[in-house]
Amino acid sequence: MKGFTSVRGLGETELSSLIDRAMEFATASASRKPLSGRSVATLFFERSTRTRLSFQSAAEKLGAHVLDLDPTSSSTGKGESLRDTVMTLSAIGAEIFIVRHAESGIPDLVADWSGAPVVNAGDGTREHPTQALVDLVTLRRHFGSLRGLKLGVVGDIRHSRVAGSLFYAMPAMGVEVTAIGPPDFLPSSPIDGIGVTTELDPVLGDLDVVYMLRVQTERGAVVGDSYATEFGLHSRRASLLGEKSVVMHPGPLNRGVEISDEVADGPRSLILQQVRNGVPARMAVLASLEESLV
Ligand code: NCD
Repeated sequence: MKGFTSVRGLGETELSSLIDRAMEFATASASRKPLSGRSVATLFFERSTRTRLSFQSAAEKLGAHVLDLDPTSSSTGKGESLRDTVMTLSAIGAEIFIVRHAESGIPDLVADWSGAPVVNAGDGTREHPTQALVDLVTLRRHFGSLRGLKLGVVGDIRHSRVAGSLFYAMPAMGVEVTAIGPPDFLPSSPIDGIGVTTELDPVLGDLDVVYMLRVQTERGAVVGDSYATEFGLHSRRASLLGEKSVVMHPGPLNRGVEISDEVADGPRSLILQQVRNGVPARMAVLASLEESLV
């Protein structure tokens, strides 16, 4: 692969090969270190815990050296342009860039400027492709196969880059997806193959996976007190789920808003499995960039 800034346009063959590779990394440590002696730069212009640390861990397990830019203490804080920052890191030796930014499209710009492979670690409200891969790996490990699974993505879809990747990656692997939320949170225009509803309870019994999203107040989402009752996943609502159905959430959780403690920490929750699969899934992405390094 030349980079991983979007899942749009990736088919079953490409995604399956990344999932298979991640499954191998999840069950055995890397016997070869494909990024040995390479430098990987992490540029996180938005806060992150699991994505940033799992990328760093993945890069290290593959033998790479990590150059971690801290935007609060680096020259970006003195007004240096993003392009100058990227060119500076390239000159220091960064060969792969991992980028998170509040503005959609920045990872592709970094790729144009640097000519290096770039991995999108979340851009604005557009995409978070490695989260979608993490979720595919998590579902494959849990259910054994993906085709035919029914997944409901619930909540603040409009501001969610995770949804922006799930809506393309899941159908590509044969997963049926329904977007569920209040009208203001639903996609602003229809997406091919994605069902849409404003009513959660009537569809719950039919879902294999309920994927809860965080209400993104930092991107302008506003909810009233009734949101937790109407769209939150709490014990009473979770009791409407089928026996084998599972609950997911990309984190961080707004406990008591979109998900209750009992459900987040309960037996159906795959939330920590998602975090665990973050390292092997990101190892699969980084390892597949080896071929495009000079
Ligand atoms: C997501 C993100 O940052 O886009 N979190 C994550 O990477 N695990 C989702 C969110 O912030 O709600």
